[in-house]
Amino acid sequence: MTKRTVILDVDTGHDDAVAIMMAGRSRTLRLDAVTVTAGNQTLDKTLRNTLNVCSALSLKVPVYPGMRGPLLRPLEPAPLIHGESGLDGPKFPECTLESRKEHAAVFLARRIMKAPAGTITVVATGPLSNIAMALLLEPSIAKRMRELVIMGGAVGWGNITPAAEYNSYADPEAARIVYASGASITLIPLDVTRTVTLTKERLAHLSRIPGKGAELFTASMTCYSAACAKYIGESASMHDPCCIAWLEKPDLFTTEKKFVSVETEGTLTRGATVVDHTGVLKKDPNARIALTIDAQRFWDLLEAALQRYQMLA
Ligand code: RIB
Ligand code: CA
Repeated sequence: MTKRTVILDVDTGHDDAVAIMMAGRSRTLRLDAVTVTAGNQTLDKTLRNTLNVCSALSLKVPVYPGMRGPLLRPLEPAPLIHGESGLDGPKFPECTLESRKEHAAVFLARRIMKAPAGTITVVATGPLSNIAMALLLEPSIAKRMRELVIMGGAVGWGNITPAAEYNSYADPEAARIVYASGASITLIPLDVTRTVTLTKERLAHLSRIPGKGAELFTASMTCYSAACAKYIGESASMHDPCCIAWLEKPDLFTTEKKFVSVETEGTLTRGATVVDHTGVLKKDPNARIALTIDAQRFWDLLEAALQRYQMLA
């Protein structure tokens, strides 16, 4: 079976790292490239974290540096959750991998325009700054992407403010541009991802899998879990990896197609994801929105992904 070609756009942090891990040795996905944006931490840190993860997992994929911040606003990193490095916990050896020189947005536009239409899937697990910039450079990529899977938004309450999820809050203008682009969007919102939480027992179970994948997962999730418990009183949620689960096993999810946009003017509501549940705006749906996930089957997928790194001693 031909693997599906995927580009990951990340702001590597802890859950982005797990998404890279799942995609890196997927049986059904071919990780074509990784583009990096500022978000959880500054671009220098998210880029270094991404290179370290790819190097530690021996993933031979090109990594492209992108936006140093949101389109119009100052960057607001998330050090409480992801630490000063953006990926506190794992200890990496000196990284020998280097990023490409081409800007991520330019790469995305060039790669999607050059590939046959409908063959590239993009997964965005950070602020949408790179994706929006690529769309501004080359609007026609919207219809050429096979699918744009986005971890972001909160239909209910947020995690960075009562109204907004972090990725949407960080660059709401970028999100507004992306949702209006005409791309085939699948939105995996916080309402779904926060239901996939890592318990101590499950972490202990996964930590017993031999190999670099489980080793990196354990070191990063131990730190991430402690920060989530301390600062938000929640268990560690598998936000970004849910996007990979969608691509590998869409039947884990229930979804609905609705019109969605993002608030850019509000103070209390900056970055809020506004879903037109009843069609009152009379606008065609522009996104498939995930409603639920079968969390147990997600964990089966993740465990299988970690086991594929066993040969990597
Ligand atoms: O709100 C969760 C999202 O914000 C995740 O993608 C996490 O990595 C941060 O980027
Ligand atoms: Ca992220």
